[in-house]
Amino acid sequence: MKKIMLLGSGELGKEFVISAKRLGLTVVAVDKYKDAPAMQVSDAYYIVNMLDKKSLDKVIAKEKPDIIVPEIEAIRTEALLYWEKKGIQISPCAKAVDLTMNRDKIRDFAAKKVKVRTANYLYANSYEEFVINAKRIGFPNVVKPVMSSSGKGQSIVRKSSDLKAAWKFAVTGMRGDKEKVIIEEFIQFESEITLLTIRQKNKKTLFVEPIGHRQEKGDYRESWIPAKIAKPHLAKAKLMAKKITDALGGYGIFGVEFFLTKNEVIFSELSPRPHDTGMVTLISQDLNEFDLHLRAILGIPIRPIKYYGPSSSVAILGTKKGKVKSISGLQNALSIQETDVRVFGKKETWPNRRMAVALARGKNTETAVKIAKNAAQKIKIRI
Ligand SMILES: Nc1ncnc2c1ncn2[C@@H]1O[C@H](COP(=O)(O)OP(=O)(O)OP(=O)(O)O)[C@@H](O)[C@H]1O
Ligand SMILES: [Mg+2]
Repeated sequence: MKKIMLLGSGELGKEFVISAKRLGLTVVAVDKYKDAPAMQVSDAYYIVNMLDKKSLDKVIAKEKPDIIVPEIEAIRTEALLYWEKKGIQISPCAKAVDLTMNRDKIRDFAAKKVKVRTANYLYANSYEEFVINAKRIGFPNVVKPVMSSSGKGQSIVRKSSDLKAAWKFAVTGMRGDKEKVIIEEFIQFESEITLLTIRQKNKKTLFVEPIGHRQEKGDYRESWIPAKIAKPHLAKAKLMAKKITDALGGYGIFGVEFFLTKNEVIFSELSPRPHDTGMVTLISQDLNEFDLHLRAILGIPIRPIKYYGPSSSVAILGTKKGKVKSISGLQNALSIQETDVRVFGKKETWPNRRMAVALARGKNTETAVKIAKNAAQKIKIRI
């Protein structure tokens, strides 16, 4: 049986491990802290600083996995490029993981190499350069550290006097030690979608129905399926997603994010792995995004997906900082028709930390979101 090493053991990793265990694979979960969600269901686990090549090399050399599945961005990708050359399969491939580790590489790749429409953007490596380039992009604009995820360090700059605070916020919210931000034109979008795109070995690229989502502070709050999108826009998004994922290569699922304006489809960013907004697939269909990722990685041909109707997922967030004593309200939440809940099992909580997700189906996506929100409100995290 094949052995998978999962790099990053959060809630998405946990569901991936469950999918892998269902097919009888061995999974070794890795993260920088103990009791991470995926470690609770894996065969073995390691606590490793994945930004350190030596530590990463050591655990890979010891475990000799057949496949390495990255679940997070903060990984020393040189290690993956090295082990791929040595014959370990990296999902989807080391190049895709390397290019998406930081925002600048994937943005330049999409805008300049693949030439898809993105928001106009410039970078800044110092506060002085930031002030000049933010003015060149114009106001409002969106500032993000090139090394960050889940909205960390991200803010909207509406006027010159916001610049100082935005720079400070970006520099404190970033990962790594190189101060670099991206300044993006603010897109006044009507909606945004994630298009889960699956690259398969010797088979054609597949797409999950588009997922709509709402973000707050750069992090997702609700997602639903199917998103409302005009047919020509969906066709365009599929074409763009295929172009980018073909240029990246490898096998697996990609979460490709787009902004939709009245007349345009604008590429935003992409994850070479399951996407947080894709947790809605845990209730909307028979093959969820984790099953799809696994099958594509293993080279198992993917049969047509069966959809169960309009569905939604609502993130349940921590409100206070502390050790989790109990999570209550499951009886009430799960008594509601067509709902489900996933509790991630995180031992510590803090404001806005994603702790669980409520899932629901409804007669349309608006109803599904309403039902999931209602279920989410019944779940209480006690510290
Ligand atoms: N240029 C932009 N114009 C308007 N809104 C934007 C822009 N860039 C980002 N946003 C908003 O912020 C959200 C998060 O941005 P982005 O996906 O780039 O950050 P992230 O930190 O990678 O988030 P995640 O890890 O949750 O995907 C977007 O989904 C969108 O709602
Ligand atoms: Mg995003």
